[in-house]
Amino acid sequence: MSRDLNLRVFSDLDQLSDAAADMVVNHAATAIQTRGRFTFVLSGGSTPRLLYQKLTEPSRCDQIAWSKVHFFWGDERTVPPDDEQSNFRMANEALLSHLDIPPDHIHRLRGEAADLDAAAEQYQQTIAHVFGVSPDSEPPAFDLVLLGMGGDGHTASLFPHTEALSEKKRWVVPNRVPELDTNRLTMTIPLLNRAKEVVFLVKGKDKSQRFAEVLKGPRHPEKLPSQFIHPVCGTLTWLVDQEAAREVQSK
Ligand code: 6PG
Repeated sequence: MSRDLNLRVFSDLDQLSDAAADMVVNHAATAIQTRGRFTFVLSGGSTPRLLYQKLTEPSRCDQIAWSKVHFFWGDERTVPPDDEQSNFRMANEALLSHLDIPPDHIHRLRGEAADLDAAAEQYQQTIAHVFGVSPDSEPPAFDLVLLGMGGDGHTASLFPHTEALSEKKRWVVPNRVPELDTNRLTMTIPLLNRAKEVVFLVKGKDKSQRFAEVLKGPRHPEKLPSQFIHPVCGTLTWLVDQEAAREVQSK
């Protein structure tokens, strides 16, 4: 597992989201102070919505120099950006549309593209450009990556037994997800594991068993892709509500 693994359990989603929002503010301040910008990878799904909304509250919003923040997505569904399934749309509604962000700092994954390989390649070029590195170099290190965990143990769009799990070079790939009968775009394990900070947000009783398997069960990452996430030299933090933590706390 990664050098540092922190597990913090909260009474409910509101407390969890408060803690997550405070972490974002602190990481942003540190990154901007030391590197002049904050490279932030947003998670999709439903759990982070409240966190994003809390970042627009004046007590936090006024603490971040938003013009120095670059937004990315860890994955995207193959839908247009205004589709209710779009991870971009959720973050835009909950956070981005409330802030004065330079448009060229919002790096959307183009899930609507007809050619997903080209869209993945273009995203890798975009990431390389923002970091000022070659797209053929080692993956760069995002300041903060937010991730969720699905009920099957997936994270981003790295689903059990799918092709993207074995990607060792590319930073972003299309991924066929047979169980959902859909294609996705997703950041890959090599890219995600280069991050300085990775924070999982997990809530709900329905995830308790799977969360315990991921955290304390035998290592079987092909079946439980969230187990692939252990930052090479960064910190991994799980922010979990007590419902989701129930099983792991009983072990
Ligand atoms: C997505 C997400 C995915 C999500 C988990 C948890 O595109 O759906 O990236 O990995 O984080 O499925 O989703 P919930 O937060 O809705 O439980």
